[in-house]
Amino acid sequence: MRVVSGMRPTGKLHLGHYIGVIKNWLNLQESYECFFFVADWHALTTKFDENINLKESSIELVKEWIACGIEPEKTNLYIQSSIKEHAELYLILNMITPLSWLERNPTYKDAMAQDEYKKKNNAGFLTYPVLQTADIVLYDADLVPIGEDQKPHLELAREIVRHFHYLYKTEVFKEPKELLTQISRLPGLDGRKMSKSYNNAIYLDDTPEEIWAKVRKAKTDPARIKKTDPGHPEVCIVFDYHKAFSSPQEVAEIEKACKEGSIGCVECKKRCASNIDKILEPIREKKASLNDGEILDIINQGNKKAKEIASSKMNEVNKIIF
Ligand code: TRP
Ligand code: SF4
Repeated sequence: MRVVSGMRPTGKLHLGHYIGVIKNWLNLQESYECFFFVADWHALTTKFDENINLKESSIELVKEWIACGIEPEKTNLYIQSSIKEHAELYLILNMITPLSWLERNPTYKDAMAQDEYKKKNNAGFLTYPVLQTADIVLYDADLVPIGEDQKPHLELAREIVRHFHYLYKTEVFKEPKELLTQISRLPGLDGRKMSKSYNNAIYLDDTPEEIWAKVRKAKTDPARIKKTDPGHPEVCIVFDYHKAFSSPQEVAEIEKACKEGSIGCVECKKRCASNIDKILEPIREKKASLNDGEILDIINQGNKKAKEIASSKMNEVNKIIF
């Protein structure tokens, strides 16, 4: 079974990416043939007017994947824009996709409700899911690991595939299935969505001091003023982080101690920061040991393999159309 998944190179990875995406990829690479790529063209759909240095941030992203334990021997790692067939298939699929399908996409509708996007209203943003469909079906993906927010995109991919098959009376693509990520979203330290723009994220390369400084300021249960006040871990961000980074035994222990008022928030946060650091330390070290040359070699190899598959699929498609 083949898995295809992409990530946009929009800045360094934080714990939300690690918990929500990377940990899942680490499991997938053990059981499936995985194609993981840097969706640099997708980054342009929203950031075409920002100076994000796509080349550098793409190499950096692959480096962080590898530092986290993604193994180039087990997976194919490549850059979307290096495989021009993504653009070629995107063009063909754009021809057959009704605008109304794209206009009813919730991601698009949400964005158009925000002034910032509404002003831009670029065609590439509207057709984002068409490019994503090309990314997936070029490789005959069986499974696409996604979070809840990407479900409409995958549904659209299947609709586009069926539409193509109906129009040209040939079944050339596989209909991809979604692999819903079970792991819940990790909130930012202030309780909002974890995001660079909210300044509430812990990055994979944060030092122990930076991690502590951030966890120390995290919001806790407002009912706890004195250490002996009984707490409600279920409303506390720090407890969410314990659930993600501490052992089940420690989570149970913290829950009990918080509820009976036998642990102070400062101690609880110290243990939390230390457990986060236990996970990030080896990632930091591995990242520091990797050089760009190595990463470029890995990308070149991945590109080569991806290119072979993508160009053979594009040949089939072009035979049908022309
Ligand atoms: N849209 C995905 C995201 O924002 C990124 C992506 C682009 C992707 N192409 C893909 C994911 C193909 C899976 C398969 O997270
Ligand atoms: Fe949150 Fe821990 Fe304080 Fe309980 S003890 S409120 S879980 S920080």
